Amino acid sequence: MLNIAIDGHVGSGKSTLASELAKILNLKMLNTGEIYRSIACYFKEMNMEINEENIKKFVSNLNIEISFDSGEQVVYVNNKCFKGKLRSEEISMLTSKISPFLVVREKVLKLQRDFAKKNDCVMEGRDIGTVVLPNADFKFFVTASEFVRAQRRYDQLKDKTNAPSFEEILEDLRQRDYNDEHRKVAPLKPAFDSIILDTSDMTLAQTVEYCCDIIKNKK
Ligand code: DC
Repeated sequence: MLNIAIDGHVGSGKSTLASELAKILNLKMLNTGEIYRSIACYFKEMNMEINEENIKKFVSNLNIEISFDSGEQVVYVNNKCFKGKLRSEEISMLTSKISPFLVVREKVLKLQRDFAKKNDCVMEGRDIGTVVLPNADFKFFVTASEFVRAQRRYDQLKDKTNAPSFEEILEDLRQRDYNDEHRKVAPLKPAFDSIILDTSDMTLAQTVEYCCDIIKNKK
């Protein structure tokens, strides 16, 4: 199996990079953030208060399934799919609160490892190179300055109704980076053997080309 791990900061462009690599190299892509986001949506729909006791009680009863619909990843939590609801600011923040819990991470860990055993894949997240697939064939850690990341997000959202201000986006990004990097279990950090990619001054095409060259030269 060929397994490529891509981790990185909020808004670093890691999902877009992963999806481009998957297309070019004909691999499956697993966006692991969407699994955590789907669990957060499920808890929200249950109106569940987020605390250790509730999380422990409900996580063991979650049945999570991943399927692909015309190549698009679809996550089901107890047969419910939350596509279209996953990316709101509210769900982003809620996901950042539930993802540090060990029981949540253990649940998702098994799913991710099973996926990598069965599929040549690019797996994208925060702890793929460090925890989920420590023996991945290639590991990339993608980052960019927080201002560049906030500007990219602002440009994506600015024409939408109720678009957040640049300052709100920057604040939200800082908060989520802080949560990801400071949690006890599987914090966001580069694996000792990852290739670090600072894309502040790189276009997507340059980033993709850079990674493809590394993969093709070593494969
Ligand atoms: O990549 P994303 O923004 O869709 O991730 C959503 C949240 O899930 C983010 O708060 C970090 C968390 N996450 C995680 O803890 N571990 C992963 N492997 C992927 C995402």
